Amino acid sequence: MSTINYSEKIPNNVNLSDDRTLKRALEQWQPNFLQWWGDMGPDGTQNFDVYLRTAVSVDPQGWAQFDHVKLPDYRWGIFLTPAEQDRKIHFGDHLGESAWQDIPGEYRANLRRIIVTQGDTEPASVEQQRHLGKTCPSQYDLRNLFQVNVEEGRHLWAMVYLLHKYFGRDGREEAEALLERRSGQQDNPRILQAFNEETPDWLSFFMFTYFTDRDGKFQLCALAESSFDPLARTTKFMLTEEAHHMFVGESGIGRIINRTCAAMNEHKTDDVATLRAAGVIDLPTLQRYLNFHFSVTIDLFGADESSNAATFYSTGLKGRYEEGKRMDDHVLKGQTYKVLSLQNGQLVEREVPMLNALNEVLRDDFIKDSIGGVERWNKLIEKAGIPFRLKAPHKAFHRNIGSLSGAKVSPDGRVLSDNEWKANVDQWLPTDADRAYVAGLMGRVVEPGKFANWIAPPVMGINRQPNDFEYVRFN
Ligand SMILES: [Fe+2]
Ligand SMILES: [Fe+2]
Repeated sequence: MSTINYSEKIPNNVNLSDDRTLKRALEQWQPNFLQWWGDMGPDGTQNFDVYLRTAVSVDPQGWAQFDHVKLPDYRWGIFLTPAEQDRKIHFGDHLGESAWQDIPGEYRANLRRIIVTQGDTEPASVEQQRHLGKTCPSQYDLRNLFQVNVEEGRHLWAMVYLLHKYFGRDGREEAEALLERRSGQQDNPRILQAFNEETPDWLSFFMFTYFTDRDGKFQLCALAESSFDPLARTTKFMLTEEAHHMFVGESGIGRIINRTCAAMNEHKTDDVATLRAAGVIDLPTLQRYLNFHFSVTIDLFGADESSNAATFYSTGLKGRYEEGKRMDDHVLKGQTYKVLSLQNGQLVEREVPMLNALNEVLRDDFIKDSIGGVERWNKLIEKAGIPFRLKAPHKAFHRNIGSLSGAKVSPDGRVLSDNEWKANVDQWLPTDADRAYVAGLMGRVVEPGKFANWIAPPVMGINRQPNDFEYVRFN
């Protein structure tokens, strides 16, 4: 079950050849996917050979094989983590029962919605990143962008497999619709707002892969607990790919910080104009981008109180992050959780039923995890001897979903009047001038071993290759 068969048209470890109907349906979807990749995947890359990793087994110890691959010939396939024998449901009302190999009829609609919402984010991010290759800061970064892109494409395959196999005609229609929606398009946008925002420059790309791919990690972790076993196994393997995406973000921002700090020390200044004249990204601008991406991403977890969240948990469709490591009863009835809201001009905590607050629980887990990386960035600044600290903004800052939606709150958590907000927002969120400055830095650097002036080289190459390795052959 766990070895991947690459001799088939659709590489897989799910014995696809045993299910002729499913195989045929997916083989009909495949050219549409490739058409979408050609239209909306990385721009102008038809002839590129890229040094990519490809899954050769789903064993976490050694699944990756590295080689130059012609980008449109990447082998997108269907890979599930091997089944666990006699797996039991370990949360919700069905606790202790056997995990489902098929979907109970009464849960079809909700599961479909969960799978489609997750599936929709995957092609969306490819679309958002479509033009970034034209302004890459190095071959190394270009290669990482393409690696992220092909794997998001594979994540789409992962969700489409479930739709085709378990949802019949509805599933096939949803799979088509996943190729029809477009990020940022007025008539037919992607489902979630953060996936309709632009990713116009590489600073945004690194922030996106740090924060928004991490949202992916938390959603996938919650789905990896699912009672619907094929969904749990699919998302488990997706998580092994996701780790690299977050690495790209964290190390990308880290390298920008290293370069900026070197320039600050060289010029002995923290003056923004001087640093911009030196062609690096000043730390206050980094902070504003961080504020933007953090706040947009935490909205993705949904409303702080949600009866859907309660239903998804109690019916066993979606667990909590690291459900298995938690020491409570895994049913959560009668338990409460604190959520924040704005009342009479003040932020107040309210105790609400925990089942209804599970979006907030996941958001708080995400916040804890993402702050870890911000602290690692601060270590780099500290090491350079510079008295500046990056900080994740307050949870209530710049929110658009749930009870904090539209509240005017500063990054340090003070409730503001509209006028105070207007007077200060340019210090907190990227301004048009910031975006124009960053856009102006983006030029294409593709000579092996060369890096744009605003970013330091990585400590180590991909698969331990030297920095001047030819990651991309442009042909
Ligand atoms: Fe993904
Ligand atoms: Fe990702």
